[in-house]
Amino acid sequence: MNRALPTLRGERVVLRPLAAADADVLSGIIAQPEVARWWGSRPHDREHHRAGLLEDAAGNDAFAIEVDGALAGWLGVYEEEEPDYRHAGLDIFLAPERQGAGLGAEALRLAARWLIEECGHHRLIIDSAAANERAIAVYAAIGFRPVGIMRAYERGNDGTWHDGLLMDMLADELR
Ligand SMILES: CC(C)(COP(=O)(O)OP(=O)(O)OC[C@H]1O[C@@H](n2cnc3c(N)ncnc32)[C@H](O)[C@@H]1OP(=O)(O)O)[C@@H](O)C(=O)NCCC(=O)NCCS
Repeated sequence: MNRALPTLRGERVVLRPLAAADADVLSGIIAQPEVARWWGSRPHDREHHRAGLLEDAAGNDAFAIEVDGALAGWLGVYEEEEPDYRHAGLDIFLAPERQGAGLGAEALRLAARWLIEECGHHRLIIDSAAANERAIAVYAAIGFRPVGIMRAYERGNDGTWHDGLLMDMLADELR
């Protein structure tokens, strides 16, 4: 997107603009089993993911998630700017050793609040594999509601097409 990302500070999480220098560490995190199982059909293709991360950094399309001053994950931001359909979308992964401690919800809340309060979005979306119960639980906990199943939406690393769950949130539903 043609806008700069800010640095957003929460209680434990800092979101800062993704940098090219983050791509090596983050592509390594994607390849770890706890992320790889939810991250498309080629999670071990480090070059493919490195290239995507470099694009995110150049396009201001993602935050680096930092915890205790260390890189802990990635939070993608997408904005639809067509005025009649304006909304923003989020996506996230955390390093395996950072999962399970509520940091995902904190990072998503920080980004959602910024998109609503500073960028003026009235609607946010997020999606996950329909089988990703933990991600769905986190998204619901911060205020996202299920819209519906997107059938055969994404290809998993077993090479087959998997259902996805689309969720959305209106500005006054953020918790
Ligand atoms: C999904 C992710 C961002 C969530 O962040 P997190 O900080 O690890 O979230 P937590 O593990 O603290 O879990 C949050 C909630 O989900 C619940 N939960 C965990 N596993 C669950 C399961 N299998 N079914 C239902 N709820 C579950 C937890 O109990 C917790 O709820 P609580 O806070 O009310 O106790 C993170 O785990 C991650 O990066 N996973 C791998 C990549 C991924 O799946 N990304 C999303 C792709 S759409």
